[in-house]
Amino acid sequence: MVARLCGHLAPPLPGQAWTWPACVKRLRPERVSRSGLLLPREATRPRATGFWSTSVGRWYQRRSWSFARLPPVSVDPGHAAYAGQSMYTRRGLRAYDAVVYGFNFPVLWRCPKARLVELYDAHVSARHLDIGVATGLLLDQCHFPSPAPTITLMDLNANSLAVAAQRLARYAPQTHQANVLEPWGLPRASFDSVGMFNLLHCLPGTLREKAVAFECAGAALSPEGVLFGATLLGKGIEYTRLARRALAIMNRRGVMCNLDDRLEDLEAGLARVFASHEVRTVGSMVLFSAQTPV
Ligand SMILES: C[S@@+](CC[C@H](N)C(=O)[O-])C[C@H]1O[C@@H](n2cnc3c(N)ncnc32)[C@H](O)[C@@H]1O
Repeated sequence: MVARLCGHLAPPLPGQAWTWPACVKRLRPERVSRSGLLLPREATRPRATGFWSTSVGRWYQRRSWSFARLPPVSVDPGHAAYAGQSMYTRRGLRAYDAVVYGFNFPVLWRCPKARLVELYDAHVSARHLDIGVATGLLLDQCHFPSPAPTITLMDLNANSLAVAAQRLARYAPQTHQANVLEPWGLPRASFDSVGMFNLLHCLPGTLREKAVAFECAGAALSPEGVLFGATLLGKGIEYTRLARRALAIMNRRGVMCNLDDRLEDLEAGLARVFASHEVRTVGSMVLFSAQTPV
Protein backbone atom coordinates (compact mmCIF):
# COMPACT_ATOMS: atom_id res chain seq x y z
CA MET A 1 0.00 0.00 0.00
CA VAL A 2 2.87 2.32 0.83
CA ALA A 3 4.46 1.86 -2.58
CA ARG A 4 1.11 2.15 -4.39
CA LEU A 5 0.36 5.40 -2.63
CA CYS A 6 3.85 6.72 -3.29
CA GLY A 7 3.29 6.03 -6.96
CA HIS A 8 0.25 8.33 -6.91
CA LEU A 9 1.98 11.14 -5.07
CA ALA A 10 3.47 14.02 -6.95
CA PRO A 11 6.79 15.16 -5.43
CA PRO A 12 6.35 18.36 -3.39
CA LEU A 13 7.29 21.72 -4.85
CA PRO A 14 10.54 23.19 -3.44
CA GLY A 15 9.87 24.56 0.04
CA GLN A 16 6.66 22.56 0.48
CA ALA A 17 6.35 19.74 3.01
CA TRP A 18 5.76 16.25 1.67
CA THR A 19 2.60 14.77 3.07
CA TRP A 20 0.07 12.01 2.60
CA PRO A 21 -3.10 12.82 0.65
CA ALA A 22 -6.21 13.74 2.64
CA CYS A 23 -7.88 10.39 1.84
CA VAL A 24 -5.13 8.54 3.79
CA LYS A 25 -5.37 10.88 6.76
CA ARG A 26 -9.15 10.31 6.86
CA LEU A 27 -8.72 6.55 6.49
CA ARG A 28 -6.09 6.05 9.22
CA PRO A 29 -5.74 9.38 11.05
CA GLU A 30 -3.92 7.69 13.97
CA ARG A 31 -1.15 6.46 11.64
CA VAL A 32 -0.23 9.79 10.06
CA SER A 33 2.45 11.65 12.01
CA ARG A 34 2.54 15.41 12.42
CA SER A 35 5.20 15.62 9.70
CA GLY A 36 2.84 13.77 7.33
CA LEU A 37 4.70 10.42 7.23
CA LEU A 38 2.89 7.15 7.80
CA LEU A 39 3.79 5.80 11.24
CA PRO A 40 4.66 2.12 11.65
CA ARG A 41 1.69 0.09 12.78
CA GLU A 42 3.46 -0.70 16.08
CA ALA A 43 3.85 2.96 16.97
CA THR A 44 0.08 3.31 17.17
CA ARG A 45 -0.67 -0.06 18.71
CA PRO A 46 -1.82 -0.18 22.34
CA ARG A 47 0.96 -1.13 24.77
CA ALA A 48 1.61 -4.87 24.72
CA THR A 49 0.32 -6.90 27.64
CA GLY A 50 0.05 -10.64 28.37
CA PHE A 51 1.41 -12.84 25.60
CA TRP A 52 2.55 -9.82 23.53
CA SER A 53 4.84 -8.62 26.28
CA THR A 54 6.80 -11.91 26.34
CA SER A 55 9.85 -12.31 24.15
CA VAL A 56 8.02 -14.85 21.94
CA GLY A 57 5.11 -12.44 21.55
CA ARG A 58 7.40 -9.55 20.69
CA TRP A 59 9.27 -11.69 18.16
CA TYR A 60 5.96 -12.69 16.52
CA GLN A 61 4.78 -9.07 16.43
CA ARG A 62 8.03 -7.95 14.79
CA ARG A 63 7.73 -10.75 12.26
CA SER A 64 4.18 -9.85 11.30
CA TRP A 65 5.12 -6.16 11.22
CA SER A 66 7.72 -6.63 8.53
CA PHE A 67 5.54 -8.95 6.46
CA ALA A 68 2.57 -6.59 6.76
CA ARG A 69 4.78 -4.07 4.99
CA LEU A 70 5.14 -6.18 1.80
CA PRO A 71 4.24 -3.72 -0.94
CA PRO A 72 2.01 -4.95 -3.77
CA VAL A 73 4.14 -3.65 -6.66
CA SER A 74 5.75 -6.36 -8.79
CA VAL A 75 8.39 -5.88 -11.47
CA ASP A 76 7.44 -6.44 -15.08
CA PRO A 77 9.76 -9.11 -16.57
CA GLY A 78 10.07 -6.92 -19.69
CA HIS A 79 11.52 -4.05 -17.64
CA ALA A 80 15.24 -3.35 -18.14
CA ALA A 81 15.81 -3.44 -14.36
CA TYR A 82 14.09 -6.83 -13.93
CA ALA A 83 17.19 -9.05 -14.34
CA GLY A 84 19.27 -7.24 -11.70
CA GLN A 85 16.78 -8.00 -8.94
CA SER A 86 15.36 -11.34 -10.13
CA MET A 87 17.74 -13.64 -8.22
CA TYR A 88 16.58 -12.27 -4.84
CA THR A 89 13.95 -14.91 -4.20
CA ARG A 90 13.26 -16.10 -0.64
CA ARG A 91 15.53 -19.09 -1.28
CA GLY A 92 18.23 -16.96 -2.91
CA LEU A 93 18.20 -14.60 0.06
CA ARG A 94 18.61 -17.50 2.50
CA ALA A 95 21.94 -18.36 0.82
CA TYR A 96 22.99 -14.74 0.19
CA ASP A 97 25.06 -14.01 3.31
CA ALA A 98 27.01 -17.27 3.12
CA VAL A 99 27.73 -17.03 -0.62
CA VAL A 100 28.36 -13.30 -0.91
CA TYR A 101 30.13 -12.59 2.37
CA GLY A 102 31.54 -16.07 2.95
CA PHE A 103 32.99 -16.55 -0.55
CA ASN A 104 32.55 -13.72 -3.09
CA PHE A 105 33.96 -10.92 -0.98
CA PRO A 106 36.97 -12.64 0.63
CA VAL A 107 37.88 -14.93 -2.30
CA LEU A 108 36.69 -13.31 -5.55
CA TRP A 109 36.74 -9.58 -4.79
CA ARG A 110 39.47 -9.74 -2.08
CA CYS A 111 37.70 -7.21 0.08
CA PRO A 112 36.86 -8.19 3.67
CA LYS A 113 33.34 -7.46 4.83
CA ALA A 114 34.87 -5.47 7.71
CA ARG A 115 35.98 -2.77 5.22
CA LEU A 116 32.37 -2.25 4.13
CA VAL A 117 31.15 -2.11 7.74
CA GLU A 118 33.91 0.47 8.43
CA LEU A 119 32.59 2.62 5.57
CA TYR A 120 29.10 2.43 7.10
CA ASP A 121 30.44 3.34 10.53
CA ALA A 122 32.21 6.37 9.05
CA HIS A 123 29.16 7.79 7.25
CA VAL A 124 25.86 6.33 8.44
CA SER A 125 23.57 8.86 10.12
CA ALA A 126 20.49 8.79 12.34
CA ARG A 127 18.32 9.56 9.25
CA HIS A 128 19.47 6.91 6.83
CA LEU A 129 18.16 5.65 3.49
CA ASP A 130 19.59 2.35 2.24
CA ILE A 131 19.06 1.27 -1.36
CA GLY A 132 19.44 -2.28 -2.65
CA VAL A 133 19.21 -4.02 0.71
CA ALA A 134 19.09 -7.82 0.03
CA THR A 135 19.35 -9.33 3.55
CA GLY A 136 20.33 -6.09 5.33
CA LEU A 137 23.51 -7.68 6.74
CA LEU A 138 25.71 -4.56 6.59
CA LEU A 139 23.03 -2.39 8.21
CA ASP A 140 22.64 -5.03 10.89
CA GLN A 141 26.36 -4.99 11.72
CA CYS A 142 27.16 -1.27 11.45
CA HIS A 143 27.00 1.22 14.30
CA PHE A 144 24.46 4.03 14.09
CA PRO A 145 25.25 7.30 15.81
CA SER A 146 21.90 7.13 17.63
CA PRO A 147 20.21 4.24 19.49
CA ALA A 148 16.95 4.90 17.60
CA PRO A 149 17.85 5.85 14.02
CA THR A 150 15.15 6.49 11.40
CA ILE A 151 15.86 3.99 8.64
CA THR A 152 14.21 3.70 5.24
CA LEU A 153 14.92 0.62 3.13
CA MET A 154 14.41 0.96 -0.60
CA ASP A 155 14.59 -1.87 -3.10
CA LEU A 156 12.89 -2.95 -6.29
CA ASN A 157 12.44 -6.46 -4.93
CA ALA A 158 9.73 -7.10 -2.33
CA ASN A 159 11.54 -10.19 -0.94
CA SER A 160 14.66 -8.17 -0.17
CA LEU A 161 12.56 -5.53 1.57
CA ALA A 162 10.72 -8.10 3.68
CA VAL A 163 13.86 -10.01 4.71
CA ALA A 164 15.89 -6.89 5.54
CA ALA A 165 12.99 -5.26 7.41
CA GLN A 166 12.56 -8.41 9.47
CA ARG A 167 16.26 -8.53 10.30
CA LEU A 168 16.31 -4.86 11.28
CA ALA A 169 12.94 -4.92 13.06
CA ARG A 170 14.58 -3.53 16.20
CA TYR A 171 14.85 -0.19 14.36
CA ALA A 172 11.27 -0.37 12.97
CA PRO A 173 12.43 0.58 9.46
CA GLN A 174 10.14 1.98 6.77
CA THR A 175 10.22 0.12 3.45
CA HIS A 176 9.81 1.63 0.02
CA GLN A 177 9.64 -0.42 -3.18
CA ALA A 178 11.05 1.58 -6.07
CA ASN A 179 13.50 1.44 -8.95
CA VAL A 180 16.64 3.43 -8.19
CA LEU A 181 16.85 4.49 -11.86
CA GLU A 182 13.45 6.19 -11.82
CA PRO A 183 12.15 9.03 -9.62
CA TRP A 184 12.25 7.66 -6.06
CA GLY A 185 9.02 9.24 -4.80
CA LEU A 186 10.64 10.15 -1.47
CA PRO A 187 10.55 13.57 0.21
CA ARG A 188 13.33 15.99 -0.73
CA ALA A 189 16.22 16.63 1.69
CA SER A 190 14.86 14.11 4.17
CA PHE A 191 17.96 11.97 4.80
CA ASP A 192 21.44 12.69 6.12
CA SER A 193 22.97 9.58 4.59
CA VAL A 194 22.23 7.28 1.66
CA GLY A 195 23.90 3.86 1.36
CA MET A 196 24.24 2.22 -2.07
CA PHE A 197 26.22 -0.99 -1.59
CA ASN A 198 26.64 -3.54 -4.37
CA LEU A 199 23.76 -2.03 -6.29
CA LEU A 200 25.28 -0.13 -9.22
CA HIS A 201 26.80 -3.26 -10.76
CA CYS A 202 23.31 -4.90 -10.78
CA LEU A 203 21.75 -2.06 -12.80
CA PRO A 204 21.30 -2.09 -16.57
CA GLY A 205 23.17 0.34 -18.83
CA THR A 206 26.52 2.08 -18.47
CA LEU A 207 27.65 4.04 -15.42
CA ARG A 208 26.84 7.25 -17.31
CA GLU A 209 23.19 6.12 -17.40
CA LYS A 210 23.25 4.70 -13.87
CA ALA A 211 24.48 8.08 -12.58
CA VAL A 212 20.86 9.24 -12.58
CA ALA A 213 20.76 7.48 -9.19
CA PHE A 214 23.31 10.01 -7.86
CA GLU A 215 21.02 12.87 -8.91
CA CYS A 216 18.09 11.30 -7.04
CA ALA A 217 20.36 10.77 -4.01
CA GLY A 218 21.42 14.43 -4.14
CA ALA A 219 17.75 15.47 -4.05
CA ALA A 220 16.88 13.11 -1.17
CA LEU A 221 19.87 14.23 0.95
CA SER A 222 20.02 17.22 3.28
CA PRO A 223 22.57 19.96 2.38
CA GLU A 224 25.26 18.26 4.53
CA GLY A 225 24.22 14.78 3.50
CA VAL A 226 26.51 11.98 2.34
CA LEU A 227 26.13 9.24 -0.26
CA PHE A 228 28.38 6.22 0.24
CA GLY A 229 28.65 2.73 -1.16
CA ALA A 230 30.61 0.11 -3.02
CA THR A 231 30.52 -1.35 -6.51
CA LEU A 232 32.38 -3.60 -8.93
CA LEU A 233 33.60 -2.02 -12.16
CA GLY A 234 34.23 -3.81 -15.43
CA LYS A 235 37.16 -1.69 -16.63
CA GLY A 236 40.38 -0.35 -15.08
CA ILE A 237 40.35 -2.70 -12.06
CA GLU A 238 42.55 -5.71 -11.35
CA TYR A 239 40.73 -9.01 -10.98
CA THR A 240 42.08 -12.49 -10.45
CA ARG A 241 41.45 -14.90 -13.29
CA LEU A 242 38.76 -16.65 -11.22
CA ALA A 243 37.07 -13.33 -10.40
CA ARG A 244 37.06 -12.28 -14.09
CA ARG A 245 35.38 -15.56 -15.01
CA ALA A 246 32.79 -15.13 -12.26
CA LEU A 247 32.13 -11.56 -13.44
CA ALA A 248 31.66 -12.76 -17.04
CA ILE A 249 29.23 -15.50 -15.95
CA MET A 250 27.19 -13.12 -13.79
CA ASN A 251 27.01 -10.61 -16.65
CA ARG A 252 25.92 -13.34 -19.05
CA ARG A 253 23.15 -14.35 -16.66
CA GLY A 254 22.03 -10.75 -16.22
CA VAL A 255 22.63 -10.80 -12.43
CA MET A 256 25.25 -8.08 -13.04
CA CYS A 257 25.70 -5.54 -15.81
CA ASN A 258 29.04 -3.85 -15.29
CA LEU A 259 31.51 -4.88 -17.99
CA ASP A 260 31.49 -1.32 -19.38
CA ASP A 261 31.47 0.43 -15.97
CA ARG A 262 34.55 2.67 -15.68
CA LEU A 263 36.13 4.54 -12.78
CA GLU A 264 36.10 7.84 -14.76
CA ASP A 265 32.34 7.59 -15.23
CA LEU A 266 31.79 6.86 -11.53
CA GLU A 267 33.88 9.89 -10.52
CA ALA A 268 32.28 12.15 -13.16
CA GLY A 269 28.77 11.12 -12.02
CA LEU A 270 29.59 11.87 -8.37
CA ALA A 271 31.34 15.17 -9.21
CA ARG A 272 28.28 16.41 -11.14
CA VAL A 273 26.06 16.15 -8.05
CA PHE A 274 28.34 16.50 -5.00
CA ALA A 275 30.81 19.18 -3.92
CA SER A 276 33.38 16.58 -2.84
CA HIS A 277 33.88 12.88 -3.30
CA GLU A 278 36.35 10.13 -2.51
CA VAL A 279 36.90 6.86 -4.36
CA ARG A 280 39.29 4.07 -3.36
CA THR A 281 39.87 0.46 -4.24
CA VAL A 282 40.07 -2.45 -1.82
CA GLY A 283 41.00 -5.65 -3.71
CA SER A 284 38.72 -5.44 -6.75
CA MET A 285 35.99 -3.52 -4.94
CA VAL A 286 35.54 0.23 -5.41
CA LEU A 287 34.39 2.09 -2.30
CA PHE A 288 33.03 5.61 -2.72
CA SER A 289 31.61 8.45 -0.67
CA ALA A 290 30.39 11.87 -1.76
CA GLN A 291 29.36 14.80 0.39
CA THR A 292 27.30 17.97 0.12
CA PRO A 293 24.92 17.86 -2.86
CA VAL A 294 25.25 21.04 -4.95
C1 LIG B 1 23.81 -7.42 -4.50
S1 LIG B 1 22.40 -6.95 -3.55
C2 LIG B 1 23.13 -5.78 -2.43
C3 LIG B 1 22.74 -6.03 -1.00
C4 LIG B 1 23.44 -5.23 0.08
N1 LIG B 1 23.42 -3.81 -0.14
C5 LIG B 1 24.86 -5.69 0.25
O1 LIG B 1 25.79 -4.94 -0.04
O2 LIG B 1 25.06 -6.83 0.69
C6 LIG B 1 21.50 -5.92 -4.68
C7 LIG B 1 20.12 -5.47 -4.19
O3 LIG B 1 19.70 -4.43 -5.09
C8 LIG B 1 18.34 -4.64 -5.45
N2 LIG B 1 18.12 -4.05 -6.78
C9 LIG B 1 18.50 -4.51 -7.98
N3 LIG B 1 18.13 -3.68 -8.96
C10 LIG B 1 17.49 -2.64 -8.36
C11 LIG B 1 16.88 -1.45 -8.85
N4 LIG B 1 16.84 -1.18 -10.15
N5 LIG B 1 16.34 -0.59 -7.94
C12 LIG B 1 16.38 -0.86 -6.61
N6 LIG B 1 16.94 -1.97 -6.10
C13 LIG B 1 17.49 -2.87 -6.96
C14 LIG B 1 18.17 -6.15 -5.43
O4 LIG B 1 16.83 -6.51 -5.28
C15 LIG B 1 19.04 -6.54 -4.22
O5 LIG B 1 18.29 -6.50 -3.04
